[in-house]
Amino acid sequence: MSQEAPNLDFEGSTPYEDYVRADVLTHLQHTVSDDPGEMVFLVTSQVMELWFTVIVHEWETAARALREDRVGVAKDALKRSVRELEALNASWKPLAGLTPAQFNSYRGALGEGSGFQSAMYRRLEFLLGEKSASMLVPHRGTPRAHAELEKALHEPSLYDEAVRLLARRGYPIPETVLHRDVSRPYEPSPEVEAAWTDVYAGDQDGELARLGEALSDVAELVWRWRNDHLVATRRAMGAKTGTGGSAGVAWLEKRARKNVFPELWTARSYV
Ligand code: HEM
Repeated sequence: MSQEAPNLDFEGSTPYEDYVRADVLTHLQHTVSDDPGEMVFLVTSQVMELWFTVIVHEWETAARALREDRVGVAKDALKRSVRELEALNASWKPLAGLTPAQFNSYRGALGEGSGFQSAMYRRLEFLLGEKSASMLVPHRGTPRAHAELEKALHEPSLYDEAVRLLARRGYPIPETVLHRDVSRPYEPSPEVEAAWTDVYAGDQDGELARLGEALSDVAELVWRWRNDHLVATRRAMGAKTGTGGSAGVAWLEKRARKNVFPELWTARSYV
């Protein structure tokens, strides 16, 4: 064996396996129908769950860093999350052209299962400020997911931390915003809009202007994920009701209309 070749000999499992846990990961694909097209639907869902996990990690890092006034650390985490959101969104590709006949081949076997019951997606939405105590209800039967969601519900969102930073940098943000009940959905405020307007009208290379743009990149890519999901759903099932019991496309359209970090968008009209 030449010296340049990789090692072949290991006691027990390989160091790669010990780190990546590939054996666990590649044996979690338990399809529920005989349809050969189900595998890619299941794996795409699992791949997206992994990206949700990474992005939640980045946004939690960013929120903590903003709280501690380490804006550079927050921006680095947000920038990483932008690349990760692009990879997440690219993973729609294998499902983007699903026809109703193809989806019907395994849809019945999914029962009431729906991405709506994704605990990691819910944590991601909570970090954006889309808080709702009722979204904990589906997770009552899974104590770990429920506990993580309950903790996230009562923590300030990434956007709450950005708005608090604006206040610490001298922008007049009302107490009602700074001390809002963070377990409730974030509501847009004229003072926050005025603060972002000021930030955008000022030094384009300033720390806050760059932070605003990084948050806008995040918002835009979340909006794209929601829209790609909506279009894939419309192609795969038209106006049928969802497996999770919602009105389907009509319900998703309402969700996709919600603006992420609302004042970062409305402020642009006044700059
Ligand atoms: C093309 C195949 C898909 C179809 C037809 C579809 C359909 C739907 C529908 C109709 C809903 C509304 C809730 C319901 O009644 O079920 C929903 C929600 C959801 N789906 Fe999908 N979905 C698809 C693929 C995926 C994939 C691959 C993921 C990745 C995990 C996913 C994640 C979600 C999430 C997170 C929600 C909740 C959205 C929210 O709370 O605003 N979906 N889906």
